[in-house]
Amino acid sequence: MKSLRPRALRAANDMPDIIFNSQHFELSRGETLLQCLLRHRQAIPHGCQAGVCQSCRLKLVTADGTIDIAAAQSGLSPSQRAENLFLSCQLQPRQSLEVALAHDGRDWQPATITECRQISNSVWQLSLATALRWQPGQYINLTLNGVDSRCYSATNLAGSGHLQLHIRRFPDGQVSDALCQRQPGSAVHIMGPVGEFLLRDDRPAKRLLLLGSGTGLAPLLAIAQHALLRLPDTPITLIHCARTPAELYDCDALQALQANSAITVQRAQWGEAAGDGNLPTLDTQLDELGPLGSDQCYLSGSSAFVQRYQRGLFMRGASRAQIFSEAFLDFSQQV
Ligand SMILES: Cc1cc2nc3c(=O)[nH]c(=O)nc-3n(C[C@H](O)[C@H](O)[C@H](O)COP(=O)(O)OP(=O)(O)OC[C@H]3O[C@@H](n4cnc5c(N)ncnc54)[C@H](O)[C@@H]3O)c2cc1C
Ligand code: FES
Repeated sequence: MKSLRPRALRAANDMPDIIFNSQHFELSRGETLLQCLLRHRQAIPHGCQAGVCQSCRLKLVTADGTIDIAAAQSGLSPSQRAENLFLSCQLQPRQSLEVALAHDGRDWQPATITECRQISNSVWQLSLATALRWQPGQYINLTLNGVDSRCYSATNLAGSGHLQLHIRRFPDGQVSDALCQRQPGSAVHIMGPVGEFLLRDDRPAKRLLLLGSGTGLAPLLAIAQHALLRLPDTPITLIHCARTPAELYDCDALQALQANSAITVQRAQWGEAAGDGNLPTLDTQLDELGPLGSDQCYLSGSSAFVQRYQRGLFMRGASRAQIFSEAFLDFSQQV
């Protein structure tokens, strides 16, 4: 992209100058564009700061010289790329830039909480009234204050006018703690849907194996319901697991799946404490399933869980091309 207003953009001391909302902000060494704007108290929606949630999208307006933003456009659609949108948490500019908030038809939209119910010691079930549509397995970004956002996966199929979420409440978490205290009738803002963790019904499989740790169950509930419609002859094994039995929970959707003869639902424990209690270990259950060479596998939960069982499934014969995963970027690595 060619410079349109180089003189206005160039900073006196060679540190890039960022123009946003007609104000100039100086970038510090090693900072991302998002970090710079947040340091200057600009209200830029953001969440993961890892290039996943897409909530920090900005539009490049002008640049001082040529700039390649392709590396900061990962996961964006071709039309978003063509409009010079990029993820501001993924760009460390070396030159001065002017940027603006993205208005790409995926703006934040209001939704109303219709249910906020505790379903275990640490998990709340939320229903939101919304016209948003999503594909089973996708997630939305949710914000309470217009700035801090977090990703949450839909547990249900779109079309009912309600989006259902399972939220693990972190007592010191910035968003989940406040969200789980909201009353029905409260307003939130959501954006999306986002994500490619979808049922691959174009690929043959003898069995679908769904493994979810903690609230990693959420997208698998939607995928399982979708699979029952799209692949009625393919058996499904859904294993809900956690590091500790207390992190497992029950819900209506899981019970409905359990009542369906096409699905086998199991519970298991993984991690260092696995095998100490009454629950079978996830490794034992996977061994009992036999070689996984003909399975299609879906993994969802903390990064630690996903990494461990991507390898675990591969070691049991699953093809890497048939393992699909969604890692919840959490700091605690507890679920
Ligand atoms: C694609 C995707 C889908 C997701 N789907 C779901 C879902 O369906 N359900 C669900 O419950 N969650 C889901 N998550 C996780 C969710 O987005 C949030 O990460 C989670 O709710 C925590 O947010 P929080 O604001 O409450 O906590 P945060 O404020 O982000 O903190 C989380 C925990 O980490 C600790 N922490 C915060 N910052 C640091 C740090 N710098 N170093 C060490 N520890 C730190 C906090 O003390 C707290 O205990 C998903 C995540 C992704 C990426
Ligand atoms: S904050 Fe940039 S992609 Fe999540």
